[in-house]
Amino acid sequence: MAVVILGASGGTGRHLVRIAGERGLDVRALARTPGAGFVLADVHDPASIAAAVAPDDVLVSALGLRRRADAGTLIAGARAAVAARPRRIVWLGATGTGPSAAKVSGFTRRLLRAGFGAEHTDKETADAVILNAGGTVVHSGVMSDRVDRPGITLVPLAALPHRFWPAGAPRATIARLMLDEAVAAAPRTGVLAVRASG
Ligand SMILES: NC(=O)c1ccc[n+]([C@@H]2O[C@H](COP(=O)([O-])OP(=O)(O)OC[C@H]3O[C@@H](n4cnc5c(N)ncnc54)[C@H](OP(=O)(O)O)[C@@H]3O)[C@@H](O)[C@H]2O)c1
Repeated sequence: MAVVILGASGGTGRHLVRIAGERGLDVRALARTPGAGFVLADVHDPASIAAAVAPDDVLVSALGLRRRADAGTLIAGARAAVAARPRRIVWLGATGTGPSAAKVSGFTRRLLRAGFGAEHTDKETADAVILNAGGTVVHSGVMSDRVDRPGITLVPLAALPHRFWPAGAPRATIARLMLDEAVAAAPRTGVLAVRASG
């Protein structure tokens, strides 16, 4: 079994690659631009994703839009991930959108909708594609580039307290928690959201 990482060159993706390597997992890092250790794959070319995934693999995605003009990338990525038929998918999304929208204030929802623009629909649809396929969607509030922080957990949506503004986490923490889910003996499907300590 390999851990296939989508968005491996990104902020969260780099942590996924590093931590998976530190854990001694078999890592396959997908990126659309050539770089050391990367397998070339672009989500707008689903065949390139399928070619990088074997049936026993787990696909972990930290795919994101680099530019607003790239709207549609998350939907393409989710569809390509499902079509590649890995054993398990762990997908990163944002708290306050789609299934977790009811867990934040109306003010926050409006702010996220305005801030994300076209990407908002992209996120909602991509989440739905992953959830319909039986995958795990991880939702976080604003992520930072601080060091990994203990005490932050992923909880099923039903156990997530309502907050005015959703709890965020360092990208390093999100990557660690996503990998925990990816290799767990008993996978938790559905939406898991960041719950801060204290
Ligand atoms: N920022 C936050 O506070 C926050 C909070 C919650 C959730 N999120 C979500 O978390 C996800 C990851 O965030 P991040 O900040 O780690 O992302 P990021 O640094 O922007 O990285 C995005 C990754 O996606 C890759 N990518 C983009 N288009 C692609 C394509 N067509 N084919 C293959 N790969 C492609 C990028 O590759 P290149 O290097 O080639 O561009 C990069 O590796 C995003 O969906 C974001 O919306 C963010």
